This record gives sequence, C-alpha cells and structure tokens, in this order.
Amino acid sequence: MTTILGIETSCDETAAAVVIDGRDIRSNVVASQADLHAQYGGVFPEMASRAHIEQIYGVVRAALNQANTTLDGIDAIAVTRGPGLPGSLVVGANMAKGLALGHPGLPIIGMNHLEGHVYSLWLAGPEYRYTPGEVPSTEFVPIHFPVVVLIVSGGHTELLLMNEHGQYQRLGGTIDDAAGEAFDKVGRLLGLPYPGGPSIQKAAAGGNSAAFDLPRVWLRGDHGEQNYDFSFSGLKTAALRLLRSIAPGYDPEHPGAVPLPVADLAASFQAAVVEVLVGKAIRAAEAHNASEILIAGGVSANSLLRAEMIRQARRPVRVPPLSLCTDNAAMIATAGYYRFLSGQRDSAGFDIRPNWPLA
Ligand code: KG4
Ligand code: ZN
Repeated sequence: MTTILGIETSCDETAAAVVIDGRDIRSNVVASQADLHAQYGGVFPEMASRAHIEQIYGVVRAALNQANTTLDGIDAIAVTRGPGLPGSLVVGANMAKGLALGHPGLPIIGMNHLEGHVYSLWLAGPEYRYTPGEVPSTEFVPIHFPVVVLIVSGGHTELLLMNEHGQYQRLGGTIDDAAGEAFDKVGRLLGLPYPGGPSIQKAAAGGNSAAFDLPRVWLRGDHGEQNYDFSFSGLKTAALRLLRSIAPGYDPEHPGAVPLPVADLAASFQAAVVEVLVGKAIRAAEAHNASEILIAGGVSANSLLRAEMIRQARRPVRVPPLSLCTDNAAMIATAGYYRFLSGQRDSAGFDIRPNWPLA
C-alpha cells in the first residue's frame, strides 16, 4: 500500500489530498480563490500567491486530518512543479520542502500539472466511462494504451497520444488562446460572471446554437492537410465584431449597457469551440487507433463537450467527475503514485518550472 500526499498551488486553487495506491481518495481539500479573482475578471497573480501562503498550511493539515493520518503515514509528497504561475508554484514547492525537511527520508516528487489532469481519469469511477449504446460497467475498467487525451483548461489546450504511463506524444495544441481562456474572454464580452466557462454553459442552456455563425478554425499544415493544432483567439475577435454589428452602441467595457441575445450568443460560441475540439480529438483517435478518448481539465466539465464527444467518438470516452475537472491535488497524488512506482525521487533543491511542457 502506497500513500501519497498531493499538493497543488499552480494557479488559483490551494489544494492538498491523500490518495492510496493512485485510486482511493482519502481526502481532497480545495480552497478556491475564484471569488477573490472574480472582481478582477481573471486571476491576479500577486493576489493568488498571497492567498496560497495564507491557505496552504491549513489545507495540508486538513487533508492529513481528514485522511486520519500524519506525515508518518505518508510514503511520498507529490507536488506541482509547473506549469503555472511562478509566485503560486513556489508556495506549494516550499511547503513540500519544509515538510520533507522535518521528516528526513520522506521523498518529494515534482509533478507536471498537466500530467495531474491526465491522471484525474484514473480516479474516475466506472460510471465515467461512456460507450455508445452500452450500460456502463459497475467495476472500474482498466485503461488500455494507447489512448488519446484532450486536456482543455484555462491555461492549456493539448492533444496527446499516451502509449504508456508517463509517456506523452504531443499531437497538437493551441497556437494562441486556451479553450478555457476563450470561454473566459467571451464570457466577459457577454457581461457574464467570471469564470466564463460555467457561465456560458448556463446561459447557453436556453439558446439556439445555430443563431449566429461563428468561425470553426481547423488549421492546416504545409500540404493543406488538417493538423491537430487549435486557434481560439480569432473566435473572440469574431464574437466582438458580431456584438458590435448586432448591438449598436455595444461597448466591451460595459457589456450590460445594451440588450444582447446572450443565450443565443453563448450557445453559438460554445458550439463552435466544441465542434473543433471534438472533431480533432476523434480524428486523432482514429489515426492512432486509440482504445479510448480521455478528456481532462476545467473545460472537460462542459456538458456539450462531453455529450458530443460521447455521441461521435465510436469508442469509449472517459471524463472525470466534475469535482476532479478543475484543479485539485488528488489528481497530482495519483499521477505522483505512478511516478513513485517508476522510481522518481526529486532532491530537496528542486526548482519550479513555470513553463514546463508535458511532452
Ligand atoms: O483546469 P482549470 O481549473 O484551471 C487551469 O489549469 O486552467 O480550468 C479552469 C477553466 C476556466 O477557463 C473555466 O472557464 C473553464 O475551465 N471551465 C469551463 C467549464 N467549467 C470550467 N469551460 C466550459 N464549460 C464549463 N462547464
Ligand atoms: Zn489545471
């Protein structure tokens, strides 16, 4: 039995969790700063690191307490090393180093945040594996490689092929804005509360996704063939142009000042993003004969993305439970468990890696 303490502070969530054998979540504590940043309409890095400093000690204590254990019962600490905000990452890294200093022999494993998102799928129950036309199994079905993984969050959009634990081949990714960033920016244009993703999904529920024609950017390589990269910044520009044309007097600084068909706009925007994400992930899965498609990251909470991927994939699709889509430390602990098994141990002098690519 291997017990890992996970610590995550890469962005605006201060999180700690205790997970046994990469699967059994004994505690999963998340202190979100969403309310703090909402007033600025986005994450304010300076405020984020200060809030992490205030929260980290209590969050780690709570995770150990809720798991009914102490550091003596922990085999290793898995802590997010990057990518993320430097001032936020150092808080978690220093916490882990401090704990290890007080417990000689307790290993630290520096984790890639994106790998954490990937491993949220190893924590998902059997009901989160969808096979068209089949009743979900009641037992966890092991994940067989190769799988195609789509990571979609506020900071990242990555399409990966995974052939083994800990091995990632990058098929493509965003060349400008991340998918979640596009949701957040367009949410702001529509005058919806931050973060934009959940707000747009909610607003879109009563809307017509065919009301407005927003661009689907498929991107092509040198020989005209579609590639696996994404571009979402043009969508924001197109949304702004559309708003100016349908609502005379529209001012992005005061989006609420003129009446807008928010539901139709939200639904049309959401459909445009989802169509491209689903189309490319499925093409990648077919090209590489993936046994399943895994979706992770904050945007994987999106109900249209889930529904369309499941409807079109022609192979099983796995999504994390909503509580594991956004940043948390259970996913870091689970990814850390597989790193622990592979023998990884990091020295106490390790540095953070704010721009650390996964592949
Ligand atoms: O993974 P995450 O918590 O943080 C990062 O590592 O970036 O993802 C946060 C992102 C935000 O951009 C948020 O708007 C988006 O995930 N998001 C959603 C939904 N829930 C969260 N986007 C679309 N639909 C949702 N339901
Ligand atoms: Zn994340």
